[in-house]
Amino acid sequence: YVVDKGNHRHFMEKEIYEQPEVVSHTLSHYIDFAEGRVKLDAAQIDFANLDRLAMSACGTAFYAGLVGKYWFERYARLPVEIDVASEFRYREMPLPGKMAALFITQSGETADTLASLRYCKDNALTIGAIVNVRESTIARESDAVFPTLAGPEIGVASTKAFTCQLSVLAALAMIAGRARGTLTLEDETGMVQALVEAPRLFNDVLKSVQPQIETLSRELSRFKDVLYLGRGTSFPLALEGALKLKEISYIHAEGYAAGELKHGPIALIDENMPVIVIAPHDRHFEKTVSNMQEVAARGGQIILITDEKGAAATTLETMSTIVLPVVDDIVAPLLYALPVQLIAYHTAVFMGTDVDQPRNLAKSVTVE
Ligand code: G6P
Repeated sequence: YVVDKGNHRHFMEKEIYEQPEVVSHTLSHYIDFAEGRVKLDAAQIDFANLDRLAMSACGTAFYAGLVGKYWFERYARLPVEIDVASEFRYREMPLPGKMAALFITQSGETADTLASLRYCKDNALTIGAIVNVRESTIARESDAVFPTLAGPEIGVASTKAFTCQLSVLAALAMIAGRARGTLTLEDETGMVQALVEAPRLFNDVLKSVQPQIETLSRELSRFKDVLYLGRGTSFPLALEGALKLKEISYIHAEGYAAGELKHGPIALIDENMPVIVIAPHDRHFEKTVSNMQEVAARGGQIILITDEKGAAATTLETMSTIVLPVVDDIVAPLLYALPVQLIAYHTAVFMGTDVDQPRNLAKSVTVE
């Protein structure tokens, strides 16, 4: 594996464009493409006999875990307890019953995530880790290692590790659903098919949205604050979008559950705070559109990231509408990560920041 920037200006850009390949590679570890089913033996966790799953991580890996929570609960009917590692380890959380613990980390060295893992050691039936660096401490201390095959990630802001973590979580949620008898064969094969086709779609989307996002990012670089909204699995994507933007462009950004708009951030809405709405045409779409209307009614400028159906279903005026192909719910968080990453990347490039080495941040946080 050669670690250079190739034809790209930054490692982050290179890593964004590697995603079709590394996601495909990661999925093939957990999914039997020929058979069209998940590989049951890829999980060394006895999902059928669990009462619950505890998950913990930091930063971008935590947001991947939040998406995973929705998936485990929906597809495997498995209750999930999740928290950022720096809280998880100190909460004195009771760990009763049949519980497995799952930690998500690119580096495998994050101090708080490691401490959370150790906290669970005596109580969890199985300690699992979704980890990119296989020789890491967290990989060594886990019973079950679920590799993300992203290759080395150099940019401090995580991109390809995130979509690979989502790929593993999607596969594990399906494996759990199959083991627990909550996912029908029809649903499983449909979702597998959607995941198999995803990397090709990623390639198309990376090409098609690029010019529009560059234009949009030039405009965004004029603002001081940006709000991101999403519902369901798009909520963690909103959090991730805000994190990426603040980390590398230094523009203040917040991610919110769309339904929480009325409970605070709506007070800030005016023409100076653009609102990025992540809204595939899923079962939450109508509700999110009504939140967008509340933003528009207060003079807020909307950037809508949706799909072809969503774009056809709304007449709201936006600053920009980024239109993606219609995909299965299990693929949406992976696909929507791409425009979210590109918006942060191009805005930071316009701001002239050090994209790969943003100030005050470290790739791997080994202090508490
Ligand atoms: C740092 C990095 C982030 C990363 C987080 C967790 O904050 O800058 O990109 O998401 O740590 O790191 P980990 O290696 O545990 O995934």
